[in-house]
Order: sequence, then C-alpha cells, then structure tokens
Amino acid sequence: MSKKILIIGASGDLAMSLSKLLLTETEHTIYYLSSKNIKFTEDESRFIQAHPLEVKNVKNFCFNILPDVIINCSGFSDVIQAEENRKLAWDLNVRVVENLVNISKILSSHLILISSDLVFDGLKGPYYDDTKPNPLNYYGKTKHTAENISISSLNKVTIIRTTPLYGHPFSEKNTFLDDYIYKLFRNYRVDVSDFLFTNPCYFDDLTITIMKIIDRELYGVFNTGGADWLSHYDFAVKVADIFGYNKKLIHKIKNPFKGAKMPLKAGLITLKTETNLSFRFTSLENGLTACKFKFFDK
Ligand SMILES: NC(=O)c1ccc[n+]([C@@H]2O[C@H](COP(=O)([O-])OP(=O)(O)OC[C@H]3O[C@@H](n4cnc5c(N)ncnc54)[C@H](OP(=O)(O)O)[C@@H]3O)[C@@H](O)[C@H]2O)c1
Repeated sequence: MSKKILIIGASGDLAMSLSKLLLTETEHTIYYLSSKNIKFTEDESRFIQAHPLEVKNVKNFCFNILPDVIINCSGFSDVIQAEENRKLAWDLNVRVVENLVNISKILSSHLILISSDLVFDGLKGPYYDDTKPNPLNYYGKTKHTAENISISSLNKVTIIRTTPLYGHPFSEKNTFLDDYIYKLFRNYRVDVSDFLFTNPCYFDDLTITIMKIIDRELYGVFNTGGADWLSHYDFAVKVADIFGYNKKLIHKIKNPFKGAKMPLKAGLITLKTETNLSFRFTSLENGLTACKFKFFDK
C-alpha cells in the first residue's frame, strides 16, 4: 500500500539514504522537512524549509499533508558536543520529539524514531530490545527521554535503536570509518579505544530495516546493528585489513570521547528484528568490502 511519508531532518546522512531507498524500492510518496534549502524534489509542495524546532511550521506542514508515517532523522548526534551544549542537544533530541509525538497523536500517524545503544550503561552489553536503559552520558539521556515520551504517549510508535553507523555514500561529516580511512590512507597514526565495544551497523541495513518496519507496520522497540561485536580498536584493524592499509599505524587508547562517559560493553542484539523482518544484518567483512567498492569504485 502506498503511504505518505514525511522525513524530518531530510538533509542528514540517514535521511538521504532512506529517501533514496524508499524512492527506488516503494510506491510511497515522500515529503521532506529540512532546515537546509536543498532541492529534494521537483514537486515543491512536498518540501518545506523549516528548522525542526519551529514547532508551528512543523505542525502546519504535517496538518497540511496528513502523513501516514513520520520519520525523525533529525537529531544532535555528537556525543562529546552534547556534554558541552546540553541545551541544544536536549532541544533537538527531546523537544523536537515531543512536538512530533503531539502531532502523531492527533493525526494518528506512525512515528518512527532513531535511538542508540548509548541508552545503556555498558556493564553487560550487547543488549536486547527489552533491556531497561541506564544511560551514562548526556546524549544517551536525551535519547532515553525521547524513547520514554513517545512510548508512553503513542500506540503507533517505533523506536529503532542503532549502533555507530558506517558505510554512508553521501556523508559530508567525518564518520569514524571515514576518519580511519583518511588517516590510514595517508600513513597517519590512528588512536582508537580497545576498551569500548559495540557492533557497528552497516548503513544500508538500517535503511532496509526502516523500510520493512513501515511496510509491516511494526511498533515497539527494534534493535539494529552489525553481525560482529568487537572493540573500536579491532574495528580499525579490520578496516586496515580490508582496505590494505598498515595496521602498525593503529594504536590502543582508553577512551577518546573526552568529557563523555561511554558504555564499555555497548552494542545491540538484533535477533528480534531479524526474526520479525526475515533479514540478516551484514557482517563486518561484507560491509567493509562493500564500502571499499562503493568508496573507491574497484
Ligand atoms: N550516525 C550514527 O552513527 C548514529 C548512531 C545512533 C543513532 N543515530 C541517530 O540517527 C539519527 C540520524 O543520524 P545521522 O547520522 O543521519 O545524523 P546527521 O547526519 O547528523 O543528521 C541529522 C540532521 O538533523 C538536523 N540537525 C542536526 N543538527 C542540527 C541543528 N543544530 N539544528 C538543526 N537541525 C539539525 C539536520 O537536518 P536538516 O538540516 O535537514 O534539518 C541534520 O542533517 C539521529 O537522531 C542520530 O542521533 C545516529
């Protein structure tokens, strides 16, 4: 069934990947809300330039188009900056969601939010979808609050938790994979933690998960993440392996996230999502190999 889907924060990495997938793989009509004036579509009625915190503009656009699904791809996602700029992190990660919850309640839209494995304290990870969160840092606290607000107010809400994402083809921001490639390619030293563990998620797996959740109208919490759980250090070594760079440039450090407490054993168990969606999350070997082809076209 064709649906009207509104993407909030349409210029972000996830939003761009997702809209590309939905346009090629589905019959859904996509609407875009972004603070940037980018030409997302030829049909101007399907785009509004608005900051996600402009409550009235967001509301008016929603009431005008009556979306079946609202996907919030906006957010303050820099963990270190979130400690230093708490107000903006709160406003973008919590207040924006509060507004979308109110709108979704009135319009009976399906609200989809993206959360993180940083809602957990990292004492016993990786975590199941139904484990009780206990965030350590401010970013994690904002995400946990947004989860609570939406789940306690709406029936038609999906929280998709994910781990650090890699493999985005359009990214302008320096993701951790880009950073390792940039440095290793130039024979620069790379300092990475061998204390922090997670299962990095291949970007395309997250967008496919969202597409399937829309089509199957699944509500509740769903974990996404890669098939391999390893330290950030081992991730960097795997990057060097697959891309053919010098592993000796990679050095172990404790925690590069200055000022932000990080869960040591983070990561997400994806069994429920895989079972519900008949889908397997990509191994690191396959994900990084695909990135090598995507980035360098070879
Ligand atoms: N990337 C990851 O590894 C990761 C991991 C776990 C969870 N997540 C979550 O997934 C969601 C999408 O992540 P992403 O990597 O695609 O994020 P992103 O590339 O940083 O995009 C987020 C979007 O939010 C809006 N935004 C960000 N800062 C803003 C500001 N100061 N003022 C106004 N708008 C702002 C922008 O959209 P417009 O300019 O179009 O309005 C921006 O493009 C976020 O909620 C993030 O927390 C990401």
